[in-house]
Amino acid sequence: MSHSTILERYHQMFSTDKEFSQRANQFFPDGVTHDSRHTHPFPIYIDHAQGSKKWGVNGKEFIDYWSGHGALLLGHNPPRIVEAVTNQMQRGTHYGACHPLELEWADLIINLIPSAEKIRFTSSGTEATLMAVRLSRIFTGRNKVLKFAGHYHGWHDAIIPGANPPYDMLIPGVLSPETTLISPPNDIDVVENYLMNDSDIACVILEPTGASFGEIPTNGEFLTQLRNLTREYGVVLIFDEVITGFRVSPGGAQGYYDVDPDLTTLAKIMAGGLPGGAVAGKTEIVDLISIEKHPKSKKMPHPGTFNANPLSAAAGIQMLKIAQTGQPQTEANQVAKILRHGINQIFDQHGLDWACYGEFSGFKILLGHGDKTLPAVDFDAYQCHYRRLKGASNPDLVKTLRCGLLLNGIDMTSGGGMTTAVHTETDIQQTISAFDQTIQEMKLEDLIN
Ligand SMILES: Cc1ncc(COP(=O)(O)O)c(C=O)c1O
Repeated sequence: MSHSTILERYHQMFSTDKEFSQRANQFFPDGVTHDSRHTHPFPIYIDHAQGSKKWGVNGKEFIDYWSGHGALLLGHNPPRIVEAVTNQMQRGTHYGACHPLELEWADLIINLIPSAEKIRFTSSGTEATLMAVRLSRIFTGRNKVLKFAGHYHGWHDAIIPGANPPYDMLIPGVLSPETTLISPPNDIDVVENYLMNDSDIACVILEPTGASFGEIPTNGEFLTQLRNLTREYGVVLIFDEVITGFRVSPGGAQGYYDVDPDLTTLAKIMAGGLPGGAVAGKTEIVDLISIEKHPKSKKMPHPGTFNANPLSAAAGIQMLKIAQTGQPQTEANQVAKILRHGINQIFDQHGLDWACYGEFSGFKILLGHGDKTLPAVDFDAYQCHYRRLKGASNPDLVKTLRCGLLLNGIDMTSGGGMTTAVHTETDIQQTISAFDQTIQEMKLEDLIN
Protein backbone atom coordinates (compact mmCIF):
# COMPACT_ATOMS: atom_id res chain seq x y z
CA MET A 1 0.00 0.00 0.00
CA SER A 2 1.49 3.35 -0.97
CA HIS A 3 1.85 6.08 1.67
CA SER A 4 -0.38 9.12 1.08
CA THR A 5 1.40 12.30 0.03
CA ILE A 6 1.82 15.47 2.10
CA LEU A 7 -0.63 17.23 -0.19
CA GLU A 8 -3.23 14.45 0.13
CA ARG A 9 -2.93 14.52 3.92
CA TYR A 10 -3.18 18.33 3.86
CA HIS A 11 -6.49 18.18 1.97
CA GLN A 12 -7.75 15.59 4.43
CA MET A 13 -6.57 17.23 7.66
CA PHE A 14 -7.70 20.72 6.67
CA SER A 15 -11.01 19.92 4.99
CA THR A 16 -12.88 22.58 7.02
CA ASP A 17 -10.24 25.18 6.10
CA LYS A 18 -10.72 24.19 2.48
CA GLU A 19 -14.43 24.94 2.74
CA PHE A 20 -13.66 28.35 4.25
CA SER A 21 -11.18 29.06 1.48
CA GLN A 22 -13.72 28.15 -1.20
CA ARG A 23 -16.09 30.76 0.26
CA ALA A 24 -13.21 33.21 0.59
CA ASN A 25 -12.40 32.84 -3.10
CA GLN A 26 -15.80 34.40 -3.83
CA PHE A 27 -15.00 37.43 -1.68
CA PHE A 28 -11.28 38.15 -1.98
CA PRO A 29 -8.67 38.03 -4.74
CA ASP A 30 -6.91 34.67 -4.23
CA GLY A 31 -9.20 34.20 -1.21
CA VAL A 32 -6.87 36.17 1.07
CA THR A 33 -6.55 39.63 2.64
CA HIS A 34 -2.74 39.96 2.54
CA ASP A 35 -0.48 38.81 -0.31
CA SER A 36 1.78 36.79 1.97
CA ARG A 37 -1.14 34.74 3.33
CA HIS A 38 -1.65 33.24 -0.12
CA THR A 39 -0.93 29.55 0.40
CA HIS A 40 -0.94 26.57 -1.95
CA PRO A 41 -3.32 24.69 -2.17
CA PHE A 42 -5.34 26.80 0.34
CA PRO A 43 -4.60 28.60 3.61
CA ILE A 44 -5.46 27.40 7.09
CA TYR A 45 -8.03 29.28 9.18
CA ILE A 46 -7.33 30.22 12.78
CA ASP A 47 -9.94 30.16 15.52
CA HIS A 48 -7.99 31.52 18.49
CA ALA A 49 -4.48 32.06 19.82
CA GLN A 50 -2.61 32.22 23.13
CA GLY A 51 1.07 32.72 23.96
CA SER A 52 3.22 31.09 21.28
CA LYS A 53 0.36 28.97 19.93
CA LYS A 54 -2.71 29.25 17.78
CA TRP A 55 -5.51 26.81 17.05
CA GLY A 56 -7.18 26.11 13.73
CA VAL A 57 -10.89 25.80 13.01
CA ASN A 58 -10.70 22.01 13.41
CA GLY A 59 -8.95 22.37 16.78
CA LYS A 60 -5.43 21.61 15.57
CA GLU A 61 -2.66 23.34 17.56
CA PHE A 62 0.16 25.22 15.84
CA ILE A 63 3.32 26.81 17.16
CA ASP A 64 3.12 30.25 15.62
CA TYR A 65 6.10 31.95 13.98
CA TRP A 66 4.14 34.63 12.14
CA SER A 67 4.04 36.44 15.46
CA GLY A 68 1.43 38.83 14.10
CA HIS A 69 3.63 39.75 11.09
CA GLY A 70 6.20 40.76 13.69
CA ALA A 71 3.84 42.79 15.90
CA LEU A 72 3.77 40.33 18.81
CA LEU A 73 7.01 40.51 20.75
CA LEU A 74 5.22 39.06 23.81
CA GLY A 75 3.18 36.41 21.99
CA HIS A 76 -0.59 36.32 21.77
CA ASN A 77 -2.72 38.05 24.42
CA PRO A 78 -0.15 39.22 26.98
CA PRO A 79 -2.25 39.77 30.17
CA ARG A 80 -1.22 43.40 30.69
CA ILE A 81 -2.16 44.35 27.13
CA VAL A 82 -5.46 42.43 27.29
CA GLU A 83 -6.34 44.22 30.53
CA ALA A 84 -5.41 47.66 29.20
CA VAL A 85 -7.34 47.22 25.96
CA THR A 86 -10.36 45.73 27.74
CA ASN A 87 -10.46 48.68 30.14
CA GLN A 88 -10.08 51.12 27.28
CA MET A 89 -12.97 49.46 25.40
CA GLN A 90 -15.28 50.46 28.28
CA ARG A 91 -14.03 54.03 28.12
CA GLY A 92 -14.45 54.53 24.37
CA THR A 93 -12.78 53.43 21.18
CA HIS A 94 -12.59 56.78 19.42
CA TYR A 95 -12.99 60.21 20.98
CA GLY A 96 -12.48 62.26 17.84
CA ALA A 97 -10.27 64.32 20.15
CA CYS A 98 -6.88 64.52 21.82
CA HIS A 99 -6.48 62.17 24.80
CA PRO A 100 -3.91 61.65 27.57
CA LEU A 101 -2.85 58.16 26.39
CA GLU A 102 -1.35 59.58 23.19
CA LEU A 103 1.02 61.65 25.33
CA GLU A 104 2.15 58.66 27.39
CA TRP A 105 2.63 56.62 24.21
CA ALA A 106 4.65 59.36 22.50
CA ASP A 107 6.75 59.93 25.61
CA LEU A 108 7.74 56.25 25.75
CA ILE A 109 8.68 56.17 22.06
CA ILE A 110 10.67 59.39 22.16
CA ASN A 111 12.55 58.17 25.21
CA LEU A 112 13.35 54.80 23.64
CA ILE A 113 14.23 55.72 20.04
CA PRO A 114 17.53 57.61 20.20
CA SER A 115 16.96 59.90 17.18
CA ALA A 116 13.32 60.70 17.99
CA GLU A 117 12.71 64.33 18.93
CA LYS A 118 9.17 64.70 17.69
CA ILE A 119 6.56 62.20 16.53
CA ARG A 120 3.34 61.90 14.52
CA PHE A 121 1.09 58.85 14.73
CA THR A 122 -0.33 57.05 11.68
CA SER A 123 -2.49 53.93 11.32
CA SER A 124 0.06 51.61 9.71
CA GLY A 125 3.65 51.16 8.62
CA THR A 126 2.73 51.95 5.03
CA GLU A 127 1.32 55.29 6.11
CA ALA A 128 4.44 55.94 8.15
CA THR A 129 6.82 55.45 5.20
CA LEU A 130 4.46 57.47 2.98
CA MET A 131 4.73 60.31 5.49
CA ALA A 132 8.50 60.02 5.88
CA VAL A 133 9.07 60.17 2.12
CA ARG A 134 6.75 63.14 1.70
CA LEU A 135 8.31 65.03 4.60
CA SER A 136 11.74 64.41 3.03
CA ARG A 137 10.55 65.85 -0.26
CA ILE A 138 9.21 68.98 1.38
CA PHE A 139 12.30 69.37 3.56
CA THR A 140 14.82 69.05 0.73
CA GLY A 141 12.77 70.42 -2.16
CA ARG A 142 13.79 67.33 -4.12
CA ASN A 143 11.72 64.48 -5.55
CA LYS A 144 13.49 61.15 -5.68
CA VAL A 145 13.71 58.25 -3.25
CA LEU A 146 16.74 55.99 -3.14
CA LYS A 147 15.99 52.54 -1.77
CA PHE A 148 17.53 49.09 -1.82
CA ALA A 149 16.57 45.97 -3.72
CA GLY A 150 14.52 43.63 -1.56
CA HIS A 151 13.76 46.18 1.17
CA TYR A 152 10.05 46.36 1.91
CA HIS A 153 8.50 49.54 3.23
CA GLY A 154 4.76 49.04 2.59
CA TRP A 155 2.90 49.28 -0.68
CA HIS A 156 2.54 52.95 -1.72
CA ASP A 157 3.90 54.22 -5.03
CA ALA A 158 7.25 55.62 -3.91
CA ILE A 159 8.59 52.52 -2.20
CA ILE A 160 6.92 49.38 -3.57
CA PRO A 161 9.19 49.20 -6.65
CA GLY A 162 12.13 46.85 -6.07
CA ALA A 163 10.67 45.23 -2.95
CA ASN A 164 10.59 41.75 -4.44
CA PRO A 165 12.52 39.90 -7.12
CA PRO A 166 12.92 40.55 -10.02
CA TYR A 167 13.84 43.88 -8.52
CA ASP A 168 13.69 45.91 -11.72
CA MET A 169 10.08 45.04 -12.61
CA LEU A 170 7.64 47.92 -13.17
CA ILE A 171 4.77 47.70 -10.68
CA PRO A 172 1.39 48.10 -12.41
CA GLY A 173 -0.48 51.25 -11.41
CA VAL A 174 2.53 52.97 -9.83
CA LEU A 175 2.85 56.62 -10.89
CA SER A 176 6.25 58.14 -11.73
CA PRO A 177 8.34 55.01 -11.17
CA GLU A 178 11.38 56.98 -12.37
CA THR A 179 11.39 58.88 -9.07
CA THR A 180 12.28 55.69 -7.20
CA LEU A 181 15.90 54.63 -7.59
CA ILE A 182 16.77 51.07 -6.63
CA SER A 183 20.29 50.38 -5.50
CA PRO A 184 21.76 46.93 -4.84
CA PRO A 185 21.87 46.45 -1.07
CA ASN A 186 25.04 46.99 0.99
CA ASP A 187 27.07 48.63 -1.79
CA ILE A 188 28.13 52.04 -0.54
CA ASP A 189 29.96 52.90 -3.79
CA VAL A 190 26.75 52.59 -5.80
CA VAL A 191 24.96 54.82 -3.27
CA GLU A 192 27.73 57.41 -3.49
CA ASN A 193 27.53 57.33 -7.26
CA TYR A 194 23.80 58.00 -7.13
CA LEU A 195 24.15 60.85 -4.65
CA MET A 196 27.05 62.41 -6.56
CA ASN A 197 25.28 62.36 -9.92
CA ASP A 198 21.67 63.07 -9.03
CA SER A 199 20.88 66.25 -7.14
CA ASP A 200 17.16 65.40 -7.05
CA ILE A 201 17.41 62.69 -4.36
CA ALA A 202 15.37 63.66 -1.30
CA CYS A 203 15.91 60.61 0.90
CA VAL A 204 17.52 57.24 1.34
CA ILE A 205 15.30 54.67 3.06
CA LEU A 206 16.22 51.22 4.29
CA GLU A 207 15.40 48.44 6.70
CA PRO A 208 18.40 48.86 8.99
CA THR A 209 19.04 45.14 9.57
CA GLY A 210 18.47 44.38 5.88
CA ALA A 211 15.64 43.44 3.54
CA SER A 212 12.68 41.70 5.21
CA PHE A 213 14.30 41.68 8.65
CA GLY A 214 17.63 40.34 7.44
CA GLU A 215 16.61 38.05 4.60
CA ILE A 216 19.26 40.08 2.77
CA PRO A 217 21.25 41.17 5.82
CA THR A 218 22.84 44.59 6.37
CA ASN A 219 25.44 45.35 9.01
CA GLY A 220 26.18 48.32 11.22
CA GLU A 221 29.16 49.45 9.17
CA PHE A 222 26.95 50.06 6.13
CA LEU A 223 24.59 52.10 8.30
CA THR A 224 27.45 54.31 9.46
CA GLN A 225 28.66 54.77 5.89
CA LEU A 226 25.15 55.71 4.79
CA ARG A 227 24.80 58.16 7.66
CA ASN A 228 28.04 59.91 6.65
CA LEU A 229 27.17 60.03 2.95
CA THR A 230 23.60 61.26 3.37
CA ARG A 231 24.80 63.98 5.75
CA GLU A 232 27.45 65.05 3.22
CA TYR A 233 24.88 65.32 0.40
CA GLY A 234 22.07 66.85 2.48
CA VAL A 235 19.81 63.85 1.89
CA VAL A 236 17.33 62.68 4.54
CA LEU A 237 18.19 59.26 5.98
CA ILE A 238 15.13 57.19 6.93
CA PHE A 239 15.42 54.03 8.99
CA ASP A 240 12.33 51.93 8.44
CA GLU A 241 12.11 50.32 11.87
CA VAL A 242 8.58 48.98 11.40
CA ILE A 243 9.91 45.50 12.24
CA THR A 244 13.20 46.26 13.99
CA GLY A 245 11.74 48.96 16.26
CA PHE A 246 11.65 47.53 19.80
CA ARG A 247 12.41 44.03 18.44
CA VAL A 248 16.16 44.33 17.84
CA SER A 249 16.65 46.28 21.06
CA PRO A 250 14.56 48.72 23.15
CA GLY A 251 16.05 51.48 20.97
CA GLY A 252 15.54 49.59 17.72
CA ALA A 253 18.33 48.92 15.23
CA GLN A 254 19.58 52.51 15.63
CA GLY A 255 20.04 51.93 19.34
CA TYR A 256 21.77 48.62 18.72
CA TYR A 257 24.15 49.94 16.04
CA ASP A 258 24.43 53.46 17.47
CA VAL A 259 23.58 55.21 14.20
CA ASP A 260 20.99 58.00 14.22
CA PRO A 261 18.81 58.53 11.13
CA ASP A 262 16.91 61.77 10.46
CA LEU A 263 13.54 60.02 10.43
CA THR A 264 12.36 56.66 11.77
CA THR A 265 9.22 54.86 10.70
CA LEU A 266 7.54 52.62 13.25
CA ALA A 267 4.52 50.27 13.50
CA LYS A 268 3.88 46.65 14.60
CA ILE A 269 5.33 46.18 18.15
CA MET A 270 4.87 49.90 18.79
CA ALA A 271 1.09 49.44 18.84
CA GLY A 272 1.08 46.34 21.05
CA GLY A 273 -0.49 44.04 18.46
CA LEU A 274 -3.17 46.52 17.39
CA PRO A 275 -3.07 48.73 14.28
CA GLY A 276 -0.84 51.78 14.48
CA GLY A 277 2.29 53.46 13.22
CA ALA A 278 4.38 56.61 13.55
CA VAL A 279 7.10 58.76 12.11
CA ALA A 280 9.60 60.02 14.66
CA GLY A 281 12.64 62.15 14.05
CA LYS A 282 14.18 65.56 13.82
CA THR A 283 11.91 68.35 14.98
CA GLU A 284 12.64 70.55 11.96
CA ILE A 285 11.45 67.78 9.61
CA VAL A 286 8.47 66.40 11.55
CA ASP A 287 7.32 69.96 12.24
CA LEU A 288 6.63 70.38 8.53
CA ILE A 289 3.21 69.04 9.53
CA SER A 290 2.70 72.10 11.76
CA ILE A 291 0.20 74.66 10.52
CA GLU A 292 1.45 77.16 13.09
CA LYS A 293 5.04 77.00 11.91
CA HIS A 294 4.51 76.74 8.17
CA PRO A 295 2.45 78.48 5.50
CA LYS A 296 -0.11 76.28 3.73
CA SER A 297 2.21 76.15 0.72
CA LYS A 298 4.82 74.29 2.80
CA LYS A 299 2.80 72.43 5.41
CA MET A 300 2.28 68.72 4.85
CA PRO A 301 -1.42 67.91 5.29
CA HIS A 302 -1.97 65.00 7.66
CA PRO A 303 -5.40 63.88 8.83
CA GLY A 304 -6.16 60.16 9.43
CA THR A 305 -9.25 58.83 11.25
CA PHE A 306 -7.42 56.29 13.40
CA ASN A 307 -4.20 58.20 14.18
CA ALA A 308 -3.25 57.55 17.83
CA ASN A 309 -6.40 55.51 18.35
CA PRO A 310 -7.02 55.05 22.10
CA LEU A 311 -7.16 51.24 21.90
CA SER A 312 -3.83 51.06 20.06
CA ALA A 313 -2.36 53.60 22.47
CA ALA A 314 -3.47 51.52 25.47
CA ALA A 315 -1.92 48.38 23.96
CA GLY A 316 1.24 50.17 22.76
CA ILE A 317 1.93 51.73 26.16
CA GLN A 318 1.84 48.36 27.93
CA MET A 319 3.94 46.73 25.20
CA LEU A 320 6.60 49.44 25.35
CA LYS A 321 6.72 49.45 29.14
CA ILE A 322 7.68 45.78 28.97
CA ALA A 323 9.89 46.15 25.88
CA GLN A 324 11.91 48.94 27.45
CA THR A 325 13.41 46.48 29.96
CA GLY A 326 15.25 44.67 27.15
CA GLN A 327 14.20 41.34 28.66
CA PRO A 328 11.74 40.20 25.96
CA GLN A 329 14.25 40.94 23.19
CA THR A 330 16.92 38.88 24.99
CA GLU A 331 14.51 35.97 25.41
CA ALA A 332 13.21 36.08 21.83
CA ASN A 333 16.78 36.29 20.48
CA GLN A 334 17.94 33.36 22.59
CA VAL A 335 15.26 30.95 21.38
CA ALA A 336 15.71 32.10 17.76
CA LYS A 337 19.41 31.27 17.97
CA ILE A 338 18.70 27.77 19.30
CA LEU A 339 16.05 27.31 16.61
CA ARG A 340 18.35 28.38 13.74
CA HIS A 341 21.09 26.07 14.94
CA GLY A 342 18.75 23.09 15.45
CA ILE A 343 17.12 23.46 12.03
CA ASN A 344 20.55 23.68 10.38
CA GLN A 345 21.64 20.49 12.12
CA ILE A 346 18.60 18.73 10.65
CA PHE A 347 19.39 20.10 7.18
CA ASP A 348 22.96 18.80 7.54
CA GLN A 349 21.84 15.38 8.80
CA HIS A 350 19.70 15.08 5.68
CA GLY A 351 22.53 16.25 3.38
CA LEU A 352 20.50 19.14 1.93
CA ASP A 353 21.77 22.42 0.49
CA TRP A 354 19.24 24.23 2.65
CA ALA A 355 20.08 26.83 5.27
CA CYS A 356 18.42 28.55 8.18
CA TYR A 357 19.95 31.94 8.89
CA GLY A 358 19.14 35.28 10.44
CA GLU A 359 19.88 37.50 13.39
CA PHE A 360 18.08 38.71 16.50
CA SER A 361 14.63 37.07 16.72
CA GLY A 362 14.39 36.19 13.03
CA PHE A 363 14.96 32.98 11.12
CA LYS A 364 15.04 32.70 7.35
CA ILE A 365 14.81 29.46 5.41
CA LEU A 366 16.64 29.15 2.10
CA LEU A 367 15.89 25.97 0.13
CA GLY A 368 18.72 25.47 -2.33
CA HIS A 369 21.78 27.63 -1.69
CA GLY A 370 23.59 25.65 -4.35
CA ASP A 371 26.54 24.14 -2.45
CA LYS A 372 25.91 20.66 -1.08
CA THR A 373 29.42 20.53 0.40
CA LEU A 374 28.77 23.56 2.62
CA PRO A 375 27.37 22.63 6.05
CA ALA A 376 24.20 24.62 6.76
CA VAL A 377 25.64 25.67 10.12
CA ASP A 378 28.43 27.46 8.19
CA PHE A 379 26.16 29.24 5.71
CA ASP A 380 26.87 32.97 5.80
CA ALA A 381 24.19 35.13 4.19
CA TYR A 382 26.54 38.14 4.20
CA GLN A 383 28.74 36.26 1.72
CA CYS A 384 25.86 35.37 -0.57
CA HIS A 385 24.76 37.51 -3.53
CA TYR A 386 21.48 39.21 -2.66
CA ARG A 387 19.70 37.72 -5.68
CA ARG A 388 20.35 34.27 -4.22
CA LEU A 389 18.67 35.08 -0.90
CA LYS A 390 15.25 36.77 -0.85
CA GLY A 391 12.65 34.75 -2.76
CA ALA A 392 15.37 32.48 -4.18
CA SER A 393 14.13 29.21 -2.65
CA ASN A 394 12.78 26.51 -4.94
CA PRO A 395 9.05 27.50 -5.01
CA ASP A 396 7.69 23.94 -5.28
CA LEU A 397 9.71 22.80 -2.30
CA VAL A 398 8.59 25.86 -0.32
CA LYS A 399 4.93 24.95 -0.91
CA THR A 400 5.36 21.33 0.17
CA LEU A 401 7.55 22.18 3.14
CA ARG A 402 4.95 24.64 4.34
CA CYS A 403 2.11 22.11 4.06
CA GLY A 404 4.25 19.46 5.74
CA LEU A 405 5.11 21.77 8.61
CA LEU A 406 1.46 22.75 9.08
CA LEU A 407 0.54 19.05 9.23
CA ASN A 408 3.25 18.73 11.87
CA GLY A 409 1.90 21.68 13.87
CA ILE A 410 4.15 24.56 12.76
CA ASP A 411 2.89 27.77 11.13
CA MET A 412 5.54 30.02 9.62
CA THR A 413 5.75 32.20 6.52
CA SER A 414 7.11 30.81 3.27
CA GLY A 415 10.49 32.42 4.04
CA GLY A 416 10.82 31.81 7.80
CA GLY A 417 9.47 33.56 10.85
CA MET A 418 10.02 35.42 14.08
CA THR A 419 10.17 34.31 17.69
CA THR A 420 8.67 36.07 20.69
CA ALA A 421 9.57 36.23 24.36
CA VAL A 422 7.09 33.42 25.09
CA HIS A 423 8.38 30.78 22.67
CA THR A 424 9.77 28.05 24.92
CA GLU A 425 12.61 25.60 24.40
CA THR A 426 9.93 22.89 24.15
CA ASP A 427 8.35 24.83 21.26
CA ILE A 428 11.77 25.01 19.63
CA GLN A 429 12.47 21.29 20.03
CA GLN A 430 9.01 20.47 18.62
CA THR A 431 9.72 22.76 15.67
CA ILE A 432 13.08 21.14 14.96
CA SER A 433 11.41 17.68 15.10
CA ALA A 434 8.68 18.92 12.74
CA PHE A 435 11.36 19.94 10.23
CA ASP A 436 12.98 16.52 10.58
CA GLN A 437 9.65 14.73 10.14
CA THR A 438 8.61 16.86 7.14
CA ILE A 439 11.95 16.36 5.39
CA GLN A 440 11.65 12.59 5.88
CA GLU A 441 8.18 12.74 4.32
CA MET A 442 9.46 14.83 1.40
CA LYS A 443 12.22 12.27 0.87
CA LEU A 444 9.66 9.46 0.87
CA GLU A 445 7.93 11.28 -1.95
CA ASP A 446 11.24 11.70 -3.81
CA LEU A 447 10.80 15.47 -3.75
CA ILE A 448 14.32 15.82 -2.37
CA ASN A 449 17.27 13.52 -1.97
C1 LIG B 1 9.91 47.09 7.23
C2 LIG B 1 8.48 47.32 6.95
N1 LIG B 1 8.07 48.54 6.61
C3 LIG B 1 6.78 48.83 6.37
C4 LIG B 1 5.83 47.84 6.44
C5 LIG B 1 4.39 48.16 6.17
O1 LIG B 1 3.69 48.15 7.36
P1 LIG B 1 2.10 47.90 7.36
O2 LIG B 1 1.89 46.49 6.94
O3 LIG B 1 1.70 48.20 8.77
O4 LIG B 1 1.52 48.88 6.40
C6 LIG B 1 6.21 46.55 6.79
C7 LIG B 1 5.20 45.46 6.87
O5 LIG B 1 5.48 44.31 6.94
C8 LIG B 1 7.56 46.27 7.04
O6 LIG B 1 7.98 45.05 7.36
